[in-house]
Amino acid sequence: MIVREVGPADLPRILEMEALCFGAEAWTPAMVAEEFGRSGGIFLGVGQPLQAYACGWAIMGELHLLQIAVHPDARRAGLATRLHAALLGVAAPRADCGWLEVKVDNAAAIAFYERLGWVPIGRRPRYYADGNDAIVFRLSPLRPPTTPAQRIATSSPR
Ligand SMILES: CC(C)(COP(=O)(O)OP(=O)(O)OC[C@H]1O[C@@H](n2cnc3c(N)ncnc32)[C@H](O)[C@@H]1OP(=O)(O)O)[C@@H](O)C(=O)NCCC(=O)NCCS
Repeated sequence: MIVREVGPADLPRILEMEALCFGAEAWTPAMVAEEFGRSGGIFLGVGQPLQAYACGWAIMGELHLLQIAVHPDARRAGLATRLHAALLGVAAPRADCGWLEVKVDNAAAIAFYERLGWVPIGRRPRYYADGNDAIVFRLSPLRPPTTPAQRIATSSPR
């Protein structure tokens, strides 16, 4: 499956998936739109319509992984793993480490990131709207993909 850049044409599907995947913490249309074409931003997806997407910033030498979402019908098929590798591949020339936040009760995401080598380094108390803490994860050094599977249907990275 081809990893491609995500753009404004994907907005309705992203909003649908944000609601399914993140509920009250779903990004608003304005928040999603802000990520299209952001300097230092990376917004990748799989599928037409999208089955999964990942968004991050590679700035100041660090990758901030903001979001990975997989449609509930497409989970446990390796899509997030594939997107994670693609995101790191794009970020690697500009970032040597990464960080992200995960809600403390998001067992699936915690298992997912730990399997990929991310290490919990702290908490942000009451980070989420529902009062839950965020666990801060770090990946250092940033490990770019080691397989040639990260074919991205994209123009040059922003
Ligand atoms: C977390 C999420 C992105 C994983 O996507 P996915 O495509 O299903 O993940 P993968 O198939 O690549 O899974 C890779 C590994 O992660 C771990 N993992 C993934 N989902 C898991 C779950 N529900 N429970 C336990 N481990 C899980 C497993 O080790 C899995 O390997 P396996 O399937 O061989 O056991 C997906 O569940 C999702 O979109 N959740 C809602 C949004 C979210 O919480 N995003 C992360 C915060 S930004």
